[in-house]
Amino acid sequence: MLQKLEVSEVATTMVDALNGAFGRHPHKRASHAKGIFATGKFTPAATASSLGLSALFAGEHSAAVRFSIAGGNPSVSDKANAARGMSIDISLGNGEHLVLVMISAPVFFAATPETFISFLAARRVDPTTGKPDADAIALSNKVHTDSEAQRRWLAATPPSSSFATAPYFAVHTYLFDRPDGTKLAARWIFEPVAGRVGLSTEDLTGLTDNFLNDELNDRVSHGSAEWRVLLQIPELTDPLRNPTVAWPETRQTVEVGRFSVDAILPSVDGDVRDKTVFDPELLPAGISAAGDPIYDSRSAAYSVSVARRNSTTV
Ligand code: HEM
Repeated sequence: MLQKLEVSEVATTMVDALNGAFGRHPHKRASHAKGIFATGKFTPAATASSLGLSALFAGEHSAAVRFSIAGGNPSVSDKANAARGMSIDISLGNGEHLVLVMISAPVFFAATPETFISFLAARRVDPTTGKPDADAIALSNKVHTDSEAQRRWLAATPPSSSFATAPYFAVHTYLFDRPDGTKLAARWIFEPVAGRVGLSTEDLTGLTDNFLNDELNDRVSHGSAEWRVLLQIPELTDPLRNPTVAWPETRQTVEVGRFSVDAILPSVDGDVRDKTVFDPELLPAGISAAGDPIYDSRSAAYSVSVARRNSTTV
């Protein structure tokens, strides 16, 4: 059925699926509805310019940042079993931008828009029971095996103790133009300098549902939160166009710089003034996406969401 739909119809159907599962909340994003804005900067490693031609690697650049919790529920607990998000918009100063919209899981839950829509449709709350239908979820999980890797990751990984103790993965493959005319395929990984720290069961009982923002505010008042920016290099057997398959952790990584967050911004999140959209297709010259069915459908869905949340009729 989906092949017959235009791109914009698929985008609308995907945002409808998010709204169906999480409800429609005035002025909130359809996904990653709960979040906080910050500012940061990217500092390239001295060796990075030999890897890529992009102006990104030529000097230090400032960035707009938004941290978030996955899902379309703006009141979700920070202790929920959900991925964290970090969206960054690095401004290269020449009019170009690098936008990366990342999650703390190494994989996404859908390889195609079909799985995305069906996965969320199965999780709609049944108005008679007030809960999603367990049989529908079980059937969707059985049919859409591409959702399994992220479900396993969520079951095995406790929520991070801070936005700054989570790694962030762009999950898609990117292509970097090299000085010798070839292209380097790689995936972005932002590895927290503070280490990956998950909450223990004890921590979970002692914390409030909204501890993450205060924690980050406190942390950056004592010094910036920082990530090592890595490019993970695939081997021949690694799929380039499937964001639900992680490449083995033993793959070579190259550190191309550091990313630091130095200030949290007063929140306009969920406010009618919040017009920010992190569009994953905004890439500078010298960096492109390898493309996959999920990457290719994101930008249009984000446009539908931003139009919907800015609409005065919500
Ligand atoms: C077809 C697949 C996807 C769809 C339909 C989708 C849909 C959406 C939508 C509608 C929003 C809200 C946009 C806005 O109102 O500004 C959003 C936000 C977000 N999505 Fe996705 N998404 C997809 C894939 C992904 C993937 C693969 C990742 C990460 C690996 C991701 C991470 C995020 C994050 C972090 C945000 C918050 C952006 C912000 O901070 O403003 N999404 N997504």
